[in-house]
Amino acid sequence: MYIYRTHNCGELRISNISNKVILSGWVHSIRKMKNKFFIDIRDFYGITQLLIKKKKLKDIIKNEYLIRIKGIVVKRKFVNKKLKTGEIEIIVEKINIINKSKKLPINIYNNLKNNNKILLKYRYLNLRNLEIKKNLIIKSKILKIIRDYFNKKKFLEIETPCLVKSTSEGARHFIIPYRNKKGYFYSLPQSPQTFKQLLMIGGIDKYYQIVKCFRDEDYRQDRQPEFLQLDIEESFVNIKQIINRIVKFIKSLLYKLYNITFINIKKITYKNSIKLYSTDKPDLRNKIFFINIKKKYIKEEYKNKKKISFIIPNFFNIINLNLNNLIFFLRKFFKKKYIYIFDFKNKVNYNKENIFKNEYIIKKIIKKKFFSKDDILFLLLFNSKKNYNKIYNLIKNKINGFLLKSIYRKELYIPIVIYNYPLLKKNNLNKKYESFHHPFTEPKTKINVKRKDKILANSYDVIINGIEIGSGSIRINNRKLQEKVFSLLGLSKKKIKKNFGFFLSALEYGTPPHGGIGIGIDRLISSLLNKKDIKDLIAFPKNIHSKDLMIKSPTKIDKKELLKLGISIIKS
Ligand code: AMO
Repeated sequence: MYIYRTHNCGELRISNISNKVILSGWVHSIRKMKNKFFIDIRDFYGITQLLIKKKKLKDIIKNEYLIRIKGIVVKRKFVNKKLKTGEIEIIVEKINIINKSKKLPINIYNNLKNNNKILLKYRYLNLRNLEIKKNLIIKSKILKIIRDYFNKKKFLEIETPCLVKSTSEGARHFIIPYRNKKGYFYSLPQSPQTFKQLLMIGGIDKYYQIVKCFRDEDYRQDRQPEFLQLDIEESFVNIKQIINRIVKFIKSLLYKLYNITFINIKKITYKNSIKLYSTDKPDLRNKIFFINIKKKYIKEEYKNKKKISFIIPNFFNIINLNLNNLIFFLRKFFKKKYIYIFDFKNKVNYNKENIFKNEYIIKKIIKKKFFSKDDILFLLLFNSKKNYNKIYNLIKNKINGFLLKSIYRKELYIPIVIYNYPLLKKNNLNKKYESFHHPFTEPKTKINVKRKDKILANSYDVIINGIEIGSGSIRINNRKLQEKVFSLLGLSKKKIKKNFGFFLSALEYGTPPHGGIGIGIDRLISSLLNKKDIKDLIAFPKNIHSKDLMIKSPTKIDKKELLKLGISIIKS
């Protein structure tokens, strides 16, 4: 029997010296030195150096050819510390070509050297890139941790259907024609939300699933039309218990992946998050706290200016950061007289202008409100009202980015749970109310139809380093309340019946109290790897137009064929 390999290309060490081995792999590089050749041979596991004593080789063996070699492991003269196999090399006795390769159309070592379109077209070659391979390895590791964790906690892994009903909640959905009846369609699920709730009604108690979700949304770097979710649901839990369940899982994941122990994961309300960080997706690595300095403390001449004020605790502990750098950075955006900085540690004012009616009171308030420690920096920036929002966001993001570059490595992952979101939000375009999360979320406060935006929900999001990785809630478990929430969303009785009739019926059979969460696995990994684009966490992703450039999908279907399916094309 023909043997392709006795070892893989990342396996051999000093202890293998004098072993006779067979390796198979791709030719990673070829170097010629006098009468011999050095070839690096590569497979999934690593790279091994081969030594071939031959005068001519170049025309026979080329980069990315797939070869099989037989040889003896020897100690290297010069150790290559970058390679795990760097202490050894193989003196080749026999070499066969398993398969030739055309010259690659992409540079597989450096993605930046390629055009994005070409990379996606040749994704199967791009998968040979080390970075992408690493991402897929970590994803697989996380999936195993998830399964081990939830199985141990007695959650049942159950699959839910992919051909589901077309309802009109949330993002646009993909539809699939039904062959047996013209004009009828399935829809691909945006998430298994109603199914997991039906499992709870069915008495399943604790469910999880690693599941594909499909959403036809506009492109963003953190979105793909099909993505992976860890979907969890549990019966007989209150909001505190389910949040604890999720927090424990996140802690365990970070411990298993990186040996990081978090004693506490911060939990704050939506309202406080907006107040402190001016966002519900705070990146706690930055440690910026936004505060509001009331007008009554500010002198007349500054009163008609818009202001941005915030606190940076621990500023002087942040590596590579000093006040001069920060001031130099801020001066790009603000006039000198509109920058006020007070350094509580060294008791130094950057701006000597008199901005406050009583500076002492302000300092006292800040110290009391935030920390008793001295190591904090207070910044107040003034700007004209014109373009305020633009400047505000720019500064917020720039300062965040500025600080981010200087953070301790051990603080790379900082999760936070935000809870008590509003139940509804107003869509500024059509002025209609929409669910902040989804229509199955349980209201926390009494429903006042006249003050819809004041209703709070028993909902929560998990954020890691400013990225929303998951979102969940306690669900409504009775028909009446569910109908009321649907009607708050402006759904007609007819539509409610058509889309959710089955679900409302199910709610009438002793539905247990239940709650859960959907965690975006690609987003989770992007937050852990500090990557904005989730494309490289997915083996075969779509491009910004939701197209797969490799298999060339979607494809055009003939008009006649479409008509057979009950779809007519309307020219707009
Ligand atoms: P939600 O819609 O907030 O909640 O989604 C949960 C998480 O899924 C991830 N996510 C995405 N990831 C990649 N591409 C996308 N297009 C995309 N959309 C969402 C995010 C998000 O936090 N059924 C509810 C969950 C529940 O209530 O249990 C749901 O799907 O990380």
